[in-house]
Amino acid sequence: MDTDREVDQATRRAFFDQVRRHTGIAMSERKWTLLEGRLRRRLRELALPDYRDYLQVLEAKPEEVNDFIDLVTTNETSFFRTPRIWEYFAQQFLPRWFAARPDMPLRVWSAAASSGEEAYTVAMLCEEFRLAHPGFRYRILATDIADGILRKAAAAQYRGRSIEGLAQTHPELLKKYFSAHEEGFCAGPALRANLTFRKHNLHQRPRDLGVFDVTLLRNVLIYFDAEGQQAVLENVRRAMAPGGVLIVGESESLSRFDMGFAFEQPLIYRNGEGARD
Ligand SMILES: C[S@@+](CC[C@H](N)C(=O)[O-])C[C@H]1O[C@@H](n2cnc3c(N)ncnc32)[C@H](O)[C@@H]1O
Repeated sequence: MDTDREVDQATRRAFFDQVRRHTGIAMSERKWTLLEGRLRRRLRELALPDYRDYLQVLEAKPEEVNDFIDLVTTNETSFFRTPRIWEYFAQQFLPRWFAARPDMPLRVWSAAASSGEEAYTVAMLCEEFRLAHPGFRYRILATDIADGILRKAAAAQYRGRSIEGLAQTHPELLKKYFSAHEEGFCAGPALRANLTFRKHNLHQRPRDLGVFDVTLLRNVLIYFDAEGQQAVLENVRRAMAPGGVLIVGESESLSRFDMGFAFEQPLIYRNGEGARD
């Protein structure tokens, strides 16, 4: 194996091109060490002597692309990540929305769902709201580009840091909606009943995903360059209802894009002007 030898610039570039081609993620030389560590593991698993061999595998075996996507994506997430947006969702958005449309199911899209904590957070808050407002109905679609992490999300089994965080911030919700499973916890049927998982690349048009009243596009725009962000925002907007709410991550902002999202609060935007609940 020559994986310990310095990888030449052409090979590094070829990997960055592959990452961009399959995910839209823009990587610069600064990211090589991170990427190299992840690739090295896969080379060992496949018993490949050289990074260039892996580039050939990627070209020759389309089925390897899924593993490649899994290894180049960063899946960090947590339940109730960025508490203020969940306060907004539970205390402002849901009551206003239900008062305006008591007969319509709320449609929520967790658009880069990773291992599912974000989607199950929405499900917990929607369930809590439904218990207090029996006519309320909702559906959640959770999508991600990476197969492996989506399977984890659908399995809904959590342990370690992820569940410890929830135990600290919302022990009553953990007790109510999760059951003990092996060394961790598993989301129960109330959280799964209205939640669907599906693979989707945000760089592709969301042709048959549906239309959403709330879209969580959080901590994923940061991985794309300005052009990629614009393209993804245009795609996401195509799947949003007029007046729908778009919520982004803490280090993401739409201020440099003029594309029909109106600022409502930090991290929270409306699709179109003036369409309020
Ligand atoms: C850091 S996680 C964010 C998870 C969650 N939204 C949150 O804020 O906690 C980023 C996720 O974006 C996904 N992702 C990266 N590129 C994507 C693309 N082109 N289409 C869809 N998902 C993508 C990754 O697989 C990863 O699971």
